[in-house]
Parts: sequence; C-alpha cells; structure tokens
Amino acid sequence: MAVLPIRLGVNIDHVATVRNARGGRHPDPVKAAEIAIAAGADGITAHLREDRRHILDADVTRLKDRIGKPLNLEMAATAEMVEIARKLKPHAACIVPERRQERTTEGGLDAAGQREALRAVVGELADAGIRVSLFIAAEPTQIEAAVSIGAPVIEIHTGAWCDAIAAGETAAATAEFDRIARGAGLANRAGLAVHAGHGLDFVTAEKIASLGEVVELNIGHFLIGEAIFAGLGAAVRLMRSAMDRGRAQLGAPGTARSRMR
Ligand code: PXP
Repeated sequence: MAVLPIRLGVNIDHVATVRNARGGRHPDPVKAAEIAIAAGADGITAHLREDRRHILDADVTRLKDRIGKPLNLEMAATAEMVEIARKLKPHAACIVPERRQERTTEGGLDAAGQREALRAVVGELADAGIRVSLFIAAEPTQIEAAVSIGAPVIEIHTGAWCDAIAAGETAAATAEFDRIARGAGLANRAGLAVHAGHGLDFVTAEKIASLGEVVELNIGHFLIGEAIFAGLGAAVRLMRSAMDRGRAQLGAPGTARSRMR
C-alpha cells in the first residue's frame, strides 16, 4: 500500500461574493485563483449556483481559459448545468445538492434516492471527458450508490464533523470523524477516489489529511476569510503546511494508508 499525495483545491466562490456585494470587477476571482495556485493550490473549485449568487458564468469561462491548474466545477444535477459543463469542459465536476434557500451546501447528495437521474448526468459528463464526483455523506448506502451510478470519485461532506468541533461537542465530533474514516476506507476499497470538503480549517484539514484514503480537500470559506487577515497566498501556504503535517502522521495509530491505483 502506498501513500498518495493529498491535493488542495481552493474554492474561490467567496471572492465573487465580495465582488458582487458592490458589482463591478473587484475583487476578481480569477486573480484570487492565480494567487492561490502560486501559493501551492493544486486546483481551483468554483460553484456555479442556479441563482448565480457568487460565481457567474463569465467567471467559470475565464477560470477555464486562464488558470494553469485543474478546474473543479461544483454544480447541481440540472439540465442547465450539464449543458454548461459539457461546453466548458472543466477537468472535474462535483455534483452537489442545491436549494435556493440554503446559505451553503448544507447536506450531502441523496445518491441512493436518485440513482437513475444521477447515472444519466454522470454518463453525460463523463462522455464530455469530465471526471465526476458526488458530494455525499460518509454513509455506506450513499457510497454503494456512487459505485452503482458509475461515479469514479466521491467527495465526503465534512460539515457535520466541523460543526461538532466548533460547538465543542467532543463525543459527536469523534463519532463523525470515525464515520468519515470508515466511509473513506469503504469507498477506497470499492475503487472510488476519495475527496473531502466543507467547513475545513487548519486544524480539521490537518486531521483529515491523516486519512491516507483521502487524496483531495476542497476548501473555501475559511481560506477566503483568513485571507482578510493574512493575505490569500499566506493562508494557502499555511493550509498546505497543515495538510502536509497531517499526511506526515500516516502510519501513526488511527490513520490509514491508501491503496495504490
Ligand atoms: N466541497 C463542496 C462540494 C462544496 O459544496 C463546498 C462549499 O461550496 C466546499 C467543498 C467548500 O466548503 P467551505 O467553503 O466550507 O470550505
């Protein structure tokens, strides 16, 4: 068993949130992406929401044209988004559940409850050469559904774990982390590549990086917030160091090494 490196995808949605608060062009999410990449990001993630509350269509086009690293497009499984993705051809697409009323992507996708619809979407995106992931909770039923749908990648929703830590609920946080670790192991054994994201900060990213099955983290809100104090380049470098510290713990009790594939 070999340890795979862990990639950092920087989600630049909230640069667009700030820009849109006043309209105009500043701050530019593409400039943020370039700074993040120069500081060590392995890819850029952007969520084109149905209501266009932050990232806009023109942003994803400019990101695709201008950044020199993979673009991961987060999107709902709608005909409109599939059409946009098929034209844009990002490196990857992460299918997320989406409700207009929510502040952020609050829960995982119910892959088990919509297998046929998702199989069609995953197939259409894969035919366009896009690597598709499903954003799901670390539940065996959802992981098994991702396999049966034919998605090569899952992204495990880490929000409940991060919320439990932030609330000081130690027992709940431990239970959530164990659930994530078990899910990552199950998915890895089933042949899926495992990503994780939502709500991660320096501490939680370090801990998640100690799970060898997890090969990519997608992180946005904390990094963009931290950039206000430290600058985006510095925040990304600190995140990269935190993830490297976590990876260096592999082999310690309670961590797992990933299977080579
Ligand atoms: N991964 C997915 C699938 C997401 O929907 C989001 C939020 O847009 C993230 C990662 C990043 O979460 P956060 O902004 O809390 O770091």
